[in-house]
Amino acid sequence: MKWTNTLANDPVWGREITHQHQKEQVALKLAQRLKNGDVVGVGSGSTSFLTLRALAQRRDKEGIEFRAIPTSIEMELACSALSVPTTLLRVERPDWSFDGADEIDSNKRMIKGRGGALLREKLMMQASKKVYIVIDESKHVTRLGQNFPVPIEIQPEAIHIVETSLKQFDTITKVVLRRAVAKDGPVITENANLILDVTFSQIDNEMEHKLKSIVGVVETGLFIGYPITLVESDKL
Ligand code: 5RP
Repeated sequence: MKWTNTLANDPVWGREITHQHQKEQVALKLAQRLKNGDVVGVGSGSTSFLTLRALAQRRDKEGIEFRAIPTSIEMELACSALSVPTTLLRVERPDWSFDGADEIDSNKRMIKGRGGALLREKLMMQASKKVYIVIDESKHVTRLGQNFPVPIEIQPEAIHIVETSLKQFDTITKVVLRRAVAKDGPVITENANLILDVTFSQIDNEMEHKLKSIVGVVETGLFIGYPITLVESDKL
């Protein structure tokens, strides 16, 4: 029997979506690659939401069935609202996956995690045979870190240890504990961790691993060296 309540049944993003038209166009383009029976890894953020919606529209119009592996509670709710059946990464491997990005440079190095879902997003990227990154033109940068800090998810008990370690990096200019907007205190991730937003003057290719080697760092929003395929308005 289906629930008839409305709170979790409304497939809307809930906030203004930046560059919405471009994001919708690219989402529709990626949705063309959906095949019957696919298990699709679903990233987080507004672009991923619009892409999931485009996949659900194809299912509704053409009867192409698929299942999703969501990377956040936000996308779990979107899947239920759109009646997209879900499975788990620990149960099945995605045939392919898609996600958005906050920044991407000319070497396909990315910053992700504005939405705080970096850990499950990176797990999905690692597990997927093919990863599509869906972007609008605002995501291209000449210097990684020029518009966004790098989110670092940390175990709460490790906050002093991590802060002390980050002080040793001379390319780090600012470290901020991410605070919640509609709740007092810090943002708590899906994994019951905290997020530090770290501003860099320069990011080298080893930085992802250097940060991960700090005890208490669970994951970083640096995505460097992944064999991703970009989906933009003029290419697929
Ligand atoms: C969430 C993410 C998103 O993919 C990234 O923030 C892009 O968001 P949007 O599609 O809303 O521009 O990494 O953790």
